[in-house]
Parts: sequence; structure tokens; C-alpha cells
Amino acid sequence: MTFRTLQGADLKGKTALVRVDFNVPMENGQVQDDTRLRSALPTIDLLSKAGAKVVLLAHFDRPKGKRVPEMSLKPVLDPLSALTRKPIKWADDCIGETAKAVIDAMKPGDVALLENLRYHTGEEKNDPAFAAELAKLGDIYVNDAFSAAHRAHASTEGLAKLLPAYPGLSMERELSALDAALGNPQRPVLGIVGGSKVSTKLDLLKNLVTRLDKLAIGGGMANTFLYAQGHDVGASYCEKDLAETAREIIRLAGQNNCKLFLPIDIVVAEQMAKGVPTRVRALGSIDEHERILDAGPETVARLKRAMANSKTLIWNGPLGVFEIPPFDKGTVEAAKEAARLAKAGELVAVAGGGDTVSAMHHAGVADDLTFISTAGGAFLEWMEGKELPGVEALKI
Ligand code: 3PG
Repeated sequence: MTFRTLQGADLKGKTALVRVDFNVPMENGQVQDDTRLRSALPTIDLLSKAGAKVVLLAHFDRPKGKRVPEMSLKPVLDPLSALTRKPIKWADDCIGETAKAVIDAMKPGDVALLENLRYHTGEEKNDPAFAAELAKLGDIYVNDAFSAAHRAHASTEGLAKLLPAYPGLSMERELSALDAALGNPQRPVLGIVGGSKVSTKLDLLKNLVTRLDKLAIGGGMANTFLYAQGHDVGASYCEKDLAETAREIIRLAGQNNCKLFLPIDIVVAEQMAKGVPTRVRALGSIDEHERILDAGPETVARLKRAMANSKTLIWNGPLGVFEIPPFDKGTVEAAKEAARLAKAGELVAVAGGGDTVSAMHHAGVADDLTFISTAGGAFLEWMEGKELPGVEALKI
């Protein structure tokens, strides 16, 4: 796969249209988590220092082609300006005279943010006319929004075909981390897939068992696998109608020499509430009112051994209900071991997906893993083995 690269490119005096993902958590017009703003900084800095006009294109929420005031990107301006330590210019529309006037008035090195792309229906429809309107505003296109790369929208796909297109520095970093985890990994590769539903991760599981050496299944979805193998799961969350699918995934793993790790013991409780009494049970020995809410100590110990015997780990989804202690124990212990091995240089540990990022922060290891992807849907689609339109469009 070949991409252009910004380093060494002729950027002076150019207007760079930079697709970023500023779809950040917001409450009452206040940015709650600026991780995505921070991740755009290296690219903004590089372009600005190279003497380009930096024009940021972004979406926020899903206004469906209408100007919904609550979905304006304006609240992002101040926090972004504080992070870049420079005033950010603002255009009240992302195309047309309004955008053009703001860009014309910029000096090399200046940064501007344009209003929500999704105020126009052409964005999500990947309308060529809308992409052409955007293209008119700049000389080059930079995509630094891996987390929006699963969308074939005008600003993530169409525009890339109209201007010389470059991955931004965050996009480059993400692609190389993901390649090290699943594209061309050092083997053996261990996967951990958790979370509650098998139904949302079917494609992902089916892809992973054909590509990994070992796969540990945890969280609520492990209950479905245990049930499919004939174990009693009491009152646990379980997608009983997916038992045959679970058996098919187990068969597929066998055919592809992927060693599957299902729980060998479980932590159960009668209620899913903070601080309630819990019991460790062997598989199958569960009362009808009890629910499986975390991986048991033997399961976690075996998972830690599997990590120590692997060179690469790719992790999506928690092992238990980590938001409610004490059901965070399995996830936290496993995360700490992954971080310890990564820090020691013994394991390439890559984690991603919404819940997973919170779980790694909760475990206090977010800075110690090799890479954490803050992409939600894009990370999952990539783990499913799907091509991401926003990445494909950057290839030359
Ligand atoms: C995200 O937050 O995952 C991306 O910005 C994509 O947003 P979307 O799901 O609204 O397309």
C-alpha cells in the first residue's frame, strides 16, 4: 500500500484542506474530552510551520443536512485555539463565498475551522458536486481522521480524488500501529474480544479466527459461547438464538488453527450493582438467579500466560462489567499485564474501540500500551477486515 507523505512535500503557500474528526463528547457547548483535538495537533503544526494555510474540515454529530445550532462546531474553537496557542479563524459555512472569503484573508501558517460539513446533505451522500465545492477551496487534501475513515462521505472519500491527497500524521501513526497489530504482525498474535453482544461482533469474530493464532472471548458475549457449549448461564445476559453461530465460530477457529480461550471460571452475583457480594464459580455451577459479570481468576491467569507467550496483542472490548466495581477486576488485571509486557518491550499491545479506551483509562494503562485507537466504528470495521473508504482513497 502506498501513500503520499507530508514530510518533505512542497507545502509553502498551499492551502491544505485537512479533514479532522472533531466529533467530540460535548455537554452544554463544552468539550468534555479533547483527545481528538489533541490528535490533530501534529498535522496542524507541521502544515502551519511549513507555511501552508491550514483549513480544517470536520463534522459534528448527525444534523442530516440541516443547520442544527446545537450541532455547530463553534464550541471547538476556543479549546482548539488554547491547544494550538494561536487564534483559529472561523467560517460559518464550509463551502461557497463565506468559506472562500475567510480562506482568502488567511496568511500562510494561519489556521481556520469551517462549520459542520454535515449541515449539507452532499457530505453524507458523497455528492460529487459538493466534493467539487470543497475542492475549489484548496490546493491539497489531508485526511487526519482515521475514526471517520469508515464513512464514504464527500470529505473523506470524494474530495481525496479531486486534489493531491495525503494522510495526516495521526492517520499515518494509526495505520502503522494497526498494520503492526493485524496487517503484518509479529507472531504469535493474541486477540481479546469482549463486550456484551456477539450479534454486533459477528463479522469481527469470523475475521479474527482466520487471522490470529489465539483468541480470548470475554464479557457478556462469552456467556453465549458457554451456553452454546451446554453450560448453564443462570440469569446471565446471553443471546441464546446465536448459539449455533457461536458453535460455527468455534468450528471456524479449529479449522484455522486459532486457539480459542473461553472462560474456565466465572465471577457471579445476583445483582449488577456496585460493591455487591460476588462468588467465583466453576463453569456451569451457577444458581438460576445469578449472573456472570466478570472473568474468574483462573481465566485471567491463563490469559496473562497467553499474553506472555505472544508477541502481539489486539484488544477490543472489556472482560466484564468494568464500569461497576468489583466487576472491573478481570479487565483491570489483564490490562495491567498487557501494559507491563508492552513497557518491557515484550509485547506489541494495541487496543481500540469506545468501551475499550474507557476500560484502559479505568485500569490506568492508557499511556502504557503500544497504541490505543480512539476510533469506534472505524476500528471495528478495520478489525472485521473491511476496506475503509477514507483510507483506500488516499492510496496512490
Ligand atoms: C465517530 O465518532 O466514530 C466518527 O466521528 C464517525 O461518526 P458517525 O458515526 O456519526 O459517522
